[in-house]
Formats: sequence, C-alpha cells, structure tokens
Amino acid sequence: MPLDIVVGAQWGDEGKGRMVDLFAGKASIVARFSGGDNAGHTVTVGDQIFKLHLVPSGLARPHTLGILGNGVVVNPATLLHEIDTLRQGGVTVNPDRLKISPAAHLITPAHRALDAAQEASRGQASLGTTLRGIGPAYMDKTARQGIRAAEMLDEEAFADRVSAHVEAANRLLTGIYGTEPLDASRVASEYLDYSRQLKPYIGDTVGLVAEALQSEKTVLAEGAQGTLLDLDHGTYPFVTSSNPTAAGALIGLGVGPRWVREVIGVAKAFQTRVGEGGFPTELDGEMAIRLRGTGENPWDEFGTTTGRARRVGWLDLVLLRYAVRVNGLTHLTLTKLDILSGIKTLKLCVAYERDGRSSPDLALGTYEMGHYRPVYEDLPGWEQDIQDARVWNDLPPQAQQYVRRIEALAGVKVGWISVGPERDQMVQLVSVE
Ligand code: GDP
Ligand code: IMO
Ligand code: MG
Repeated sequence: MPLDIVVGAQWGDEGKGRMVDLFAGKASIVARFSGGDNAGHTVTVGDQIFKLHLVPSGLARPHTLGILGNGVVVNPATLLHEIDTLRQGGVTVNPDRLKISPAAHLITPAHRALDAAQEASRGQASLGTTLRGIGPAYMDKTARQGIRAAEMLDEEAFADRVSAHVEAANRLLTGIYGTEPLDASRVASEYLDYSRQLKPYIGDTVGLVAEALQSEKTVLAEGAQGTLLDLDHGTYPFVTSSNPTAAGALIGLGVGPRWVREVIGVAKAFQTRVGEGGFPTELDGEMAIRLRGTGENPWDEFGTTTGRARRVGWLDLVLLRYAVRVNGLTHLTLTKLDILSGIKTLKLCVAYERDGRSSPDLALGTYEMGHYRPVYEDLPGWEQDIQDARVWNDLPPQAQQYVRRIEALAGVKVGWISVGPERDQMVQLVSVE
C-alpha cells in the first residue's frame, strides 16, 4: 500500500511532470500507464531542465524505479534517444531503473506515417494530433494486430512481424491515402537493432507493482495528457486514443482498485489546450498573450512536444468539476498561480449558458460544448510576484480568495499550489507520506 495516481485535470500540460517529480521523493516506483511520446513533461531541477516524453518524470530522482505499463505505446527510437539525452544530463536510466511491460504496444514509423496521412485526409476537420502515431498504434492494439514489446525477445520472428506490419500499412498509405510507401526491410532492420538494445528493459511490471504495494511501498502512477483528452470522457473526437483518467491507471498497469489511496488532479490556474476542439473560455488578444507569454520563458505556453502555441483562456470550473467526478479526485494541485500576478481582474467560468438557460454542469458530457457560452464570476487579482511564496500566509489575500473559490466550486480540496517551475516553488497544504 498505497497507489497514488496523478492525472491531468484539463487538456494536458497542467504541470504533471513537476508534480510527479515532487511526489516521487517518497515513492519507490513511478509508472506511466497510458499514452506515449505525445506527452511532454518538463521537470526543472536547479539549472537543469528535463523534457521527458516517455521516461517517467519520477526518474529525475535517483532512488526510483520507472515503469512503462501495458497501457503505454512505446516508440523505441524516442525511448532510446531519451535515455541517451538523460545520460548526458547526468541521469542514469538502465535496465535496473526502468522496466517495460511485455504487453506494451510498439509505435513504428508506419504508425507515424498513417497518423500524418489520416490528419491530412481530414482536411479542415483535422484533430491537431501530435503526429506521433498514437492513434494508429492504439487502432492496431484494439484491432488485435499490434506488435507488443515482448515480441522483441524473439529476434527473427520480430523482424518478420515488423516487416509484415509495414507492408500492411503500405497498402493503406498507397491505396487509400495516396502517399509514399515505407521501406519495410529498412524499418525491420532498424527495429531489430532497437530490440537488441531494449530487450533487457522488458520485465514483469505487474509483478513489480504488486510486490511493492504488498510490502507497503508507495507506487506513483504518472498520468499523461488530461481528463478532457480521454477517449471516453474527453471532448471527443478531439481527444487522444487512450484513457488518461484515473481508472486508466488500473488497466494500464494491471492493478486493482483496492490499492488506490490518493487521486491527485493537476490543474493550471487558467486553461490551455493544444490541438483542435471546443474551448468555451478561450481568449484572444491582449489577455491571451499575457497568459501564454511570448516564448522567452521556458514555462511559456508553447508545446514541449510540438512547439505549437497553446490556446489559452480563463479557468473553467464547469470542466474542472467534471474532472473531479470522472476521476474521483481526492485532491487538486493548482499550478502556475504565479502567472496570474499583476492581472487586475480574474475571471472564473462558473456555469455554461445555452438558449437563455444556465447550468453549472455539462448537460450531455462534453457533447455540445461548442454551443455553450461561459458565465463568469469576477475576482480581484493581486499585484505582487508570488514565486517566493512557500506557505499559505505568504500568498496575498486575493490569491487565497481565488484558491478558496476554486475549491468551493470544484468540490475538492487544493493540496498543493505551485508558484514557479522549480521543485521547491510550492505551497504545500497537505502532506502525503
Ligand atoms: P505536463 O505535460 O502536465 O507535465 O506539463 P508540461 O511540462 O508540458 O507544461 C508545464 C510547464 O509549466 C513546464 O514548462 C513547467 O516547467 C512549467 N511549470 C509547472 N508548474 C509551474 C508553475 O507553478 N509556475 C510556472 N511559472 N511554471 C510552471
Ligand atoms: P502531456 O502529457 C497536451 C493532444 C494533441 C491533440 C490530441 C490528440 O504533455 O500533457 P494525439 O497525438 O494524442 O493523437 O493527439 O491530444 N495531446 C496533448 N495535449 N498535452 C499532451 O500531453 C498531449 N498529448 C496529446 O494536441 O489535440
Ligand atoms: Mg506536457
């Protein structure tokens, strides 16, 4: 005991990586359970900035074991590159520190090519995916034709499998999408090389998690993406192809619900989104630039994975309340509160209005989101910089009021408030052992 789950409560990029890094201080295992290298998690430790896509953020701590669970889709090229980059930054990631589930599915260049071809064929209706091959890899998984990590153990059969998979994808690429085919034998030999390097990383991840839990060690499930990008509960079809919500951690790691202690939702103090889809509180003009930043600070709102400018808006409590329900959140972490310093009047979206009627909850999940008009409540802002705040009383009364109002409207306690990207730039209101 116990399993603590950290999930994004919005559309991703809430600051999960930096929170997982904080919680990992007390965890034995940190495990990714869904998504792949569409994720971009930034961890700042002193003058080092780790930008991680696949390796769990908790590995920035030297004592942790990292796991890529069965729910993850693994691009071997990204993983090996990331391991190498971390080594150059002084962080060792070897088979003693990272285990990949034999049941995790692999992403190949064919998945990436199909992702690009599908996006192009959608034209105006494109989803704005990260083009990392995520959708096609999960399609192969659900079609029961994907390639799993365990297949890397048998070299000869693996190369044949990869080659046949690329040839099958080529038929779609050339026949349906009219794009260039890939060289199947080149991809097969590239993957054979990856398999030789990654074999030692494959391990009994279900067993490792179970043993840790049985011996009272803390296991931290690291969410990628966010609740509103969940395939079932998000703003479909503008979602990712996995379940980044809390229940996804159980399936994606192979662990039962009895072990769960905390479900911590990470939310920014405002709202952001990359990619297409509805966004009722979206802003443009001066205030959007103010919230997004211009790109000169590492934390400005430009995607870690794709570099795209993130869409920004006021915090949406209708959606946050929804995230509290869908995940069964026990606590909320509020990140980037420091970004709001100096804004005279802050707005919180407390309800949606449609056809003259307003409601504090979504009528049909996120189904008709494009038609909702946000109803705002104004709160006074604060002038001073809060990056040095470390305890509740360091925060100006207006910031305290902003946090308390969010708690009341979302129906969950805020346990942590982050006021800067650094490990210690945190106001901790609860303690988790
Ligand atoms: P993730 O995908 O949820 O892990 O979030 P990202 O790492 O993609 O994006 C969050 C960005 O905000 C990163 O650049 C973090 O270093 C930065 N960040 C996190 N918390 C804070 C905070 O409280 N204040 C500021 N200024 N930056 C933060
Ligand atoms: P982290 O873990 C923000 C978005 C994409 C697109 C949609 C589908 O850093 O929070 P996909 O490539 O998954 O098929 O794209 O999901 N998306 C993210 N947005 N943060 C992420 O990860 C994301 N991962 C996927 O922009 O809208
Ligand atoms: Mg991110």
